[in-house]
Amino acid sequence: MSVTSLSESEVTAANRSRQIPSPVLEFDRVTKRYGRTTVVDDLSFTVQPGRVTGFLGPNGSGKSTTIKILLGLASADKGRATIGGRFYREFSDPTGTVGVILEPNAFHPGRSGRNHLRILAEAAGIAPSRVDGMLDDVGLSGSAADRRVGAYSLGMRQRLSLAAALLGDPPVLVLDEPANGLDPQGIHTLRDLLRARAAGGDTVLVSSHILAEMELLADDLVVIDKGRLVASGPMADLQQIANVVRTPDPNTLQRALESSGGMVERADDETLIVRGLSLDEIGDQAFNHQVRVHELSPKVGSLEELFLSWTAGSRSNGEDNEKAKVLS
Ligand SMILES: Nc1ncnc2c1ncn2[C@@H]1O[C@H](COP(=O)(O)OP(=O)(O)O)[C@@H](O)[C@H]1O
Ligand SMILES: [Mg+2]
Repeated sequence: MSVTSLSESEVTAANRSRQIPSPVLEFDRVTKRYGRTTVVDDLSFTVQPGRVTGFLGPNGSGKSTTIKILLGLASADKGRATIGGRFYREFSDPTGTVGVILEPNAFHPGRSGRNHLRILAEAAGIAPSRVDGMLDDVGLSGSAADRRVGAYSLGMRQRLSLAAALLGDPPVLVLDEPANGLDPQGIHTLRDLLRARAAGGDTVLVSSHILAEMELLADDLVVIDKGRLVASGPMADLQQIANVVRTPDPNTLQRALESSGGMVERADDETLIVRGLSLDEIGDQAFNHQVRVHELSPKVGSLEELFLSWTAGSRSNGEDNEKAKVLS
């Protein structure tokens, strides 16, 4: 998919007024090797503004490396990763354009969270009055903000990182494992903040190796394993990969569905689980073969099951491209 290049001033205008769409992030056949290991392998996907895109993969699957390539902190051996058609390094105000959380967070341990943000704000020419608001937004106000960062829990450091990423009100957020170490309350705060940013038109990419987090946070999902794309698309589509049909004549319907390309599993005496055919196609086949249908509905699979099957697929060589095709 080609992306229209935005000029620098257009992108920073998005930052100020959101009058124009925030930039699309585009990863185009990105490949990265460390020694003889390919850690990011021909990876292509886009991240659209106005949505929270989850970047999901097991530990070591290449998420952080992919994000570092986008931010110019690692170089791709092949392919490119761009922001509104431009490289990160080409922006004159990169920190005002992209709010970033990378792991591990580096904070001066002797400084308080509030002072840390004040210093960042001053360096970036941001009004110091914004600092207290940001601390409130991430749930780190009051005495917690005045404690030294060295004494913070991982969750508190993540809240501080989030405040720092949002400080300059950037149109793009790229957050690597921001929910790591957060308690359930912290994850809800994170979700509300990201939802609000996306609703305001921002482009939000958020990585995690934990499915439950992604189910809470993301509208769209990009799933990788061993550096390769295994699935991508809207969360709702990825969850609804099968349909259920209940009929008093399952044998006839099963044959009909299989001959029109469906993959059919028998759940019980009268229930079929069908993949590869839409609800409309199943209904039409039933009608064509004069089979009575007592139920026809999408099966919302647990993302956990799907995630395991996707990542298992990429371990048995060759199947993953097929899956990526079907699901993307
Ligand atoms: N600077 C590096 N040098 C060598 N290997 C690296 C480097 N950074 C990451 N790797 C390796 O690349 C793979 C992907 O790592 P990473 O991108 O951190 O995965 P994730 O963020 O999904 O856990 C891992 O096997 C990791 O050990
Ligand atoms: Mg990582």
